[in-house]
Amino acid sequence: MAKLGAPTVDPATFRHVLGHFCSGVTIVTALDGGTPVGFACQSFASLSLEPPLVTFFVARTSTTWPRIRPGARFCVNVLADDQEDLCRAFAVSGADKFAGVAHTPAPGTGSPLLDGVLAYVDCTLERVVDGGDHEIVIGRVAALDAPRDDAGPLLFYKGRFGHPARNA
Ligand SMILES: Cc1cc2nc3c(=O)[nH]c(=O)nc-3n(C[C@H](O)[C@H](O)[C@H](O)COP(=O)(O)O)c2cc1C
Repeated sequence: MAKLGAPTVDPATFRHVLGHFCSGVTIVTALDGGTPVGFACQSFASLSLEPPLVTFFVARTSTTWPRIRPGARFCVNVLADDQEDLCRAFAVSGADKFAGVAHTPAPGTGSPLLDGVLAYVDCTLERVVDGGDHEIVIGRVAALDAPRDDAGPLLFYKGRFGHPARNA
């Protein structure tokens, strides 16, 4: 067990232990001068009901986030269990991620709302806070819905997609 107050944490141990926290997966999208951009993001959570805020954490190495931030609006697309391939496509840096991806303008901000998502949370940028090698992004909800209420969620657990029991 890690000692309380230990000055360093081994990165491999950090990843291994934190990988035991199961999450859903989202794709954060926006328009950069009319060009759709986005990246896969598991670090999404609801933050506040009054006012309605959500949060996600983005790596400082992301090349997409600097294209989203100036526009100060984005849509968090919550993925369904049949959207693993879509997620993989949006986890690759520098690729043409939107090739063949159907989307419409989200009702609050006009950010790309991806077809077939479980739910979406359309946001304006409220605040960005320092988070070490990540930035903590806080969004204010402009519109939201769950268009595929009956579908299952895409899960991420121990570095793999799918149902937690399959990764045991
Ligand atoms: C399942 C999954 C979850 C991810 N979650 C995050 C995340 O929460 N924050 C983050 O910065 N990157 C996350 N990534 C990695 C980014 O998607 C990836 O680094 C990014 O797409 C790089 O592209 P960019 O340079 O266009 O930003 C995740 C990747 C996968 C496959």
